[in-house]
Amino acid sequence: MKEKDIHKGLRSHISEDDPTASARKEDHIKLAFKSQIENGQIDRRFNYEPILAAHPSISDIKKKSFAGKQMKAPLWISSMTGGTELAKKINTNLAMICKEFGLGMGLGSCRKLLEEDTYFQDFNMRPILGDDVPFFANLGIAQIEKLIKENKVDLIKKMLDKLRADGLIIHVNPFQEWLQPEGDIINESPLTSINKLIEQFDRKIIVKEVGQGMGPESLKALMQLPIECIEFAALGGTNFSKLELFRSDIEAREIFSGLAKVGHTAEEMVFLVNTLLDELQDKARCKQYIISGGIKNFLDGYYLINKLNADCIFGQASSFLKYAIEGYEQVHDYTAAQIKGLALANAYLKVK
Ligand SMILES: Cc1cc2nc3c(=O)[nH]c(=O)nc-3n(C[C@H](O)[C@H](O)[C@H](O)COP(=O)(O)O)c2cc1C
Repeated sequence: MKEKDIHKGLRSHISEDDPTASARKEDHIKLAFKSQIENGQIDRRFNYEPILAAHPSISDIKKKSFAGKQMKAPLWISSMTGGTELAKKINTNLAMICKEFGLGMGLGSCRKLLEEDTYFQDFNMRPILGDDVPFFANLGIAQIEKLIKENKVDLIKKMLDKLRADGLIIHVNPFQEWLQPEGDIINESPLTSINKLIEQFDRKIIVKEVGQGMGPESLKALMQLPIECIEFAALGGTNFSKLELFRSDIEAREIFSGLAKVGHTAEEMVFLVNTLLDELQDKARCKQYIISGGIKNFLDGYYLINKLNADCIFGQASSFLKYAIEGYEQVHDYTAAQIKGLALANAYLKVK
């Protein structure tokens, strides 16, 4: 999408002599019948308040401090891949976007970096991002458990220093590991491993799932830990149990497919966290949240960040991936459109 086209959707430019008026009026007549909104299509999440604000610009979006850094919009690029040539291109495109629009970024699993330097450049995004925006490395809970057991937590610190990352994202993915043909076995509860890590780790920690979210008991336990943030990675978008089943044999797919349908949506998790914040009061030590998993667009994100009674931003993975694979221009235009959409929502929509 070209910059001009993005503007077109937001605002029409009527010059004094208005040379396109007649073509436009013809369009209006032709398209009117196609432009009926059916009852089932109505989005009832917002009050629309058209008379209270002028058209916004991107600079109207408030800066957001997150994990000790500054973001220019409340939008996070959720952890994705590394360790292949394509991943380097994707990460580089995404890091350039974060730099330009002031967004935060989580890396995909950095496990390969613990073992060798071959793939370092796939993950080495700080030189592109600059120092202002948040940037987090990523490891799975099975790896954390193993590193603790082998007394190698220092390797994580070294990796974070080398990447100049602000902290570590831990993905907790017992279903994925179980269903992945080459997956790891988790021998201790993830909560035990996270607690053990916290005892010997002085860096910021974010804990996330990988597309099925978390229920109330897991959230309650995590919210009481001194961690920087919980990322939902909720059910409703990319689902790694489903993905691993595509990589399994047909028999496993048939037997376990039901597991991929289980979990908690981002909307449900917002409700759960709000309820738990009321219950826990001062015992809630985790103060920031990334609402992610199935967030299709800025309207979903805008709605949910306004619904959560806590400091939060929203994150997307596959939506960015779709365009980042194509190229920088494509992901740039997608991001610009999302941020313009956010500015418009801020100006005219109040969440019910
Ligand atoms: C290609 C791809 C690779 C991913 N790799 C990781 C990973 O290494 N670590 C992780 O924590 N999450 C990983 N995720 C999960 C995402 O961070 C996110 O939680 C999930 O995709 C749900 O978000 P979405 O619905 O916006 O895609 C990956 C997602 C995608 C699409």
